Amino acid sequence: MSSEARRVEHQMTDKGYVPVYTTAVVEQPWASYSPTDHAVWGQLFRRQREILQGRACPEFLTAMDAMGMSDAQIPKFEELNVHLQQATGWKLIAVEGLLPELTFFEHLAAREFPVTWWIRRPDQIDYISEPDLFHDLFGHVPLLMNPVFADYMQAYGAGGVRASTFGPEPLANLTRLYWYTVEFGLIDTPEGLRIYGAGILSSKGESIHCLESAAPNRIGFDVQRVMQTRYRIDTYQKTYFVIDGFDQLFKATVDPDFGPIYYRMKGAESIPAGSVLDTDRVFNRGSGEGWLADGDV
Ligand SMILES: [Fe+2]
Repeated sequence: MSSEARRVEHQMTDKGYVPVYTTAVVEQPWASYSPTDHAVWGQLFRRQREILQGRACPEFLTAMDAMGMSDAQIPKFEELNVHLQQATGWKLIAVEGLLPELTFFEHLAAREFPVTWWIRRPDQIDYISEPDLFHDLFGHVPLLMNPVFADYMQAYGAGGVRASTFGPEPLANLTRLYWYTVEFGLIDTPEGLRIYGAGILSSKGESIHCLESAAPNRIGFDVQRVMQTRYRIDTYQKTYFVIDGFDQLFKATVDPDFGPIYYRMKGAESIPAGSVLDTDRVFNRGSGEGWLADGDV
């Protein structure tokens, strides 16, 4: 990590509280990656690709190949950007780590996706407390090749910029929406449920757990329901929300607009992470096995 990076605050993420940096955009220092860095990428890439066959949504796997990501070496952002620009106009920018919330929203609204440039060490293969290059690049970037998902990400960023003027409650709701879609979302397909959330796609254990375990709830996506639902940061999710297609996500962010949703939800009670409501469309009612009784955010 470069010496200019300065930690300014901690932010809640899918990996717990992690540092946020003052540094904005840097060049991906590709020449400085060691053979070990490339080997870590290759090992993680091969392992996840194997697990994700028949588990990830087909759009994800196809896009990954189309943009030339492979296990051979850590991809160069500038080469991926050629494909992204052509497909959806998105662009990767290299960062030291998590950005302050508003800066992050502004990048998304401008179709720029911040990717942490450094990769975990070999002894962190199975667990790292903050998002690294593998999570950001492998997990998040391929679906930016999909035009509808790409539009959703931009609309989410634009919604975030607007919400940041409304106070903390709308921001908490937006964070939950990101959590249950971009990080931990499932999608219904003719072949069965598939993964599209990056937090799952970059996790060996949760890739299997989210689809095959009887423990979690799998519930049909509803934007207001999701925005009210708390979540866990320290274990697998108690509930996964299932979309019918990426257009359902995009529509949720623009029609109706985020603004009216906030007013309807003002003061509404949050819903515990493991609850199932009478109004839910239930794909699987979780057995609850292994759930911790406290700690939903
Ligand atoms: Fe992420």
